[in-house]
Amino acid sequence: MLALLDHMALFGWGVMPECRSESDSLRLGQECLIVDRAGGLQRAGVGKGSGLEIRDGIRRDEVRWLREEGDSQVQQAYLAWLEILRLALNERFFLGLFTFEGHFARFPEGGFYKAHLDCHAGSSDRIITTILYLNEGWQPGDGGELKLWTTAGDYAGGFVLIEPRMGTLVCFLAGDHWHEVLPTVKSRMSLTGWFLRR
Ligand code: OGA
Ligand code: MN
Repeated sequence: MLALLDHMALFGWGVMPECRSESDSLRLGQECLIVDRAGGLQRAGVGKGSGLEIRDGIRRDEVRWLREEGDSQVQQAYLAWLEILRLALNERFFLGLFTFEGHFARFPEGGFYKAHLDCHAGSSDRIITTILYLNEGWQPGDGGELKLWTTAGDYAGGFVLIEPRMGTLVCFLAGDHWHEVLPTVKSRMSLTGWFLRR
């Protein structure tokens, strides 16, 4: 976690491979699939509250929000780890993060999410984005890389491509870094969430 925090301090984003054990990541991926098969995923929208819309041209993922206390032991273990991360972020960067909200997300084959910031217009409650990838055996050619622009506020300059490998966590300042999910060739799963400030 220290390497992640150090990278965040320098660049505003960071990647942590093997954030969860293989068995925990596998289990979380299975839970996402179970929810999906039970019809528990819903098309994600763009915007917030009454402005929320399904926009096929912008994003194609389906999501299911987690309950705050978690629905299983692996979820609870990950939420407990995120709580340690939240406290560490507050201690180091004085962010005043007070809670986490997260959801399972699944992009179907041919899914994508066009370049965007994670802050809703007119609000700044989402401060840090965290994404944990749950794709067993992901390989180049499966698509769905995260394209993350590395300069705050800029979406013309440099970027990194992050492979959505099982157990990899990516973390960045939600309102600073433009990002995009490149088209998926295979179905792609994650557990994505945000630390919020009041
Ligand atoms: C999001 C998002 C990126 C990813 O859900 O807001 O940008 O890599 N997800 O899943
Ligand atoms: Mn996003």
